[in-house]
Amino acid sequence: MEMMKCVVKEQKGDGFVSLTQKPMPEIGDYDVLIRVKAVAICGTDVHIRHWDDYAQKRMNPPTVIGHEYAGEVVKVGKGVTAVNVGDIVNSDSHLVCNSCDLCLNGHTDVCYNTVVIGVHRDGAMAEYISIPESAAVKCDPSMPIEQLALMEPLGVAVHAAMEFPISAKKVAVIGCGPIGCMGVAVARTLGAAKIIAVELNPQRAQMALEMGANAVIDPVKEDVTSKVKELCDGLGVDVVLDFSGNAGAIMTALDYVKPDGYIVCAGLGPKPVTLEWENFVTKGICIKGISGREIPRTWERMKGLFAAGLDISKVITHVLPLEEFEKGLDLMEKGQCGKVVLKP
Ligand SMILES: NC(=O)c1ccc[n+]([C@@H]2O[C@H](COP(=O)([O-])OP(=O)(O)OC[C@H]3O[C@@H](n4cnc5c(N)ncnc54)[C@H](O)[C@@H]3O)[C@@H](O)[C@H]2O)c1
Ligand SMILES: [Zn+2]
Ligand SMILES: [Zn+2]
Repeated sequence: MEMMKCVVKEQKGDGFVSLTQKPMPEIGDYDVLIRVKAVAICGTDVHIRHWDDYAQKRMNPPTVIGHEYAGEVVKVGKGVTAVNVGDIVNSDSHLVCNSCDLCLNGHTDVCYNTVVIGVHRDGAMAEYISIPESAAVKCDPSMPIEQLALMEPLGVAVHAAMEFPISAKKVAVIGCGPIGCMGVAVARTLGAAKIIAVELNPQRAQMALEMGANAVIDPVKEDVTSKVKELCDGLGVDVVLDFSGNAGAIMTALDYVKPDGYIVCAGLGPKPVTLEWENFVTKGICIKGISGREIPRTWERMKGLFAAGLDISKVITHVLPLEEFEKGLDLMEKGQCGKVVLKP
């Protein structure tokens, strides 16, 4: 039996993530086998390491982790027609059913039957991964493979930023971790008039500026509402994109978003968010949740944005061999990085 190296969550509980060997995945008639060339570490992988609520509810280890990846197709099942050996591909981490009422109406982002790569089934922190042909997305082989591996988290930023029109609008981006920073770059490419980032980590605040923010506000040191208004002719922003999930930050956004404005929420936090209801109602605000990506729409949009000049290269701060996954998880946990990409 041919073996491959991979990073596995071995069992339930805090820890138990290790580099090990497993048999190469088998493929069915409608599957493709991908030689993984780059796999990025996600905050979710850190949660899985520590066996938090998210992991406890969904995982049944042992499971190969990793869900942000790109690679080369090395084998295809008998029934595969759309993908060929040699193609450079990636995929959404969400494998959707394509048959529930939501999928059939184009709402694949909230499919009831979503199966997540690297969570419910074996993931991509490995030399090889097998996925259904229907999930494989062909990529431009001239693009850097590290960036192709980031299309899954980039898709969250694109889904959020394109939910409502932001061209020529004033936009606040809360939480400039990797996804928020990519959100800044997307807003810039889409032609936002002004982008105000809100972030407390100085390294990430700097990254937000480099990726296109006009200003960054430190919510610990400054009064966010008055600073935003000062930067926006005393009025506020038209659209808020939240990638922090921080309850206090989202509550504050209700103060500095303009009447008839939008608050788009992609960040996930542990605490319930309390809304000042009168503020919300009388200002006529729209608050929209964002889950994953719309398949295939968000993917088409990402390709279009790359063609329009979107540059996410600066979000990649570390490229490490797969063997150094632990160092990558530590960097992510401490927030001392943008994106960490592993090379199996
Ligand atoms: N909706 C989805 O489908 C989806 C998918 C992936 C990730 N997420 C969530 O999106 C968020 C962004 O992902 P990421 O990988 O960039 O996460 P991250 O944790 O690296 O980034 C969050 C950033 O928010 C900042 N932050 C925290 N409190 C803040 C505050 N009060 N004001 C301003 N900034 C604050 C942190 O310093 C950090 O840089 C996370 O909450 C993640 O769980 C959602
Ligand atoms: Zn992820
Ligand atoms: Zn479905």
